[in-house]
Amino acid sequence: MRLDKLISNCGFGSRKEVKELLKKGFVTVDGEVCKRPETQIDPSCQKVYVGETVVEYEKYSYLMMNKPDGVISATIDEEHTTVVDLVDERYQYADVFPVGRLDKDTTGLLIISNDGGFAHRALSPKKHVEKVYRAQLDKPIGDAEIAAFEAGIQLDDDFKTMPAGLCTLDDDGFVAQVTIREGKFHQVKRMFEALGIKVLALKRTHFAGLALDENLAEGEYRRLNETELKSIENLLSKDK
Ligand code: URA
Repeated sequence: MRLDKLISNCGFGSRKEVKELLKKGFVTVDGEVCKRPETQIDPSCQKVYVGETVVEYEKYSYLMMNKPDGVISATIDEEHTTVVDLVDERYQYADVFPVGRLDKDTTGLLIISNDGGFAHRALSPKKHVEKVYRAQLDKPIGDAEIAAFEAGIQLDDDFKTMPAGLCTLDDDGFVAQVTIREGKFHQVKRMFEALGIKVLALKRTHFAGLALDENLAEGEYRRLNETELKSIENLLSKDK
């Protein structure tokens, strides 16, 4: 990979800023000053330094974000703030994108990565990846709604959902936990709507077996740790 791309992806600035660092002779490759941005580097066997700092190359980044209300699940948008606007520039230079979508007003667990293969597996309809949501409702649910979700819900566009899990999280039934294995547009809201119930607030708490880190305030994110990454990759590698 090109030297300027490698350094930029590792968080040392935009490609333009990195070119300046190179020009000023701040970059060494295997102990020699290198000023050519187009130099091809094999990060597995060549040592790159910016000043005294080693450039630690990671092929892919995997972030867990607690998506805030009002932010869209996209990379760029002229009008609205996107989830990618909220991450550090080092990840933006590395071309991260949201793995799937949450509605603008949905909060909670969203994975952000630059690993296209991972995203493809996580979003493949064949994988039936489990997603869990917490929904605040305008009417209470009871046994009838739980049975209806279990049987699958007929949506307005002739699509019948797979059986979905539904239970209450409070005493009076206004807060529900929903588990689905599909990802149709506005699916959870439409499932409730089909039963005459309005979702007032929706938060995703789990995705592919990963739980939202409750220490993350809305808009915050952190890297997935090794255990989380292994467990999600393990799950996605299984044929469903
Ligand atoms: N279902 C919805 O209705 N909205 C979301 O953002 C995710 C699932």
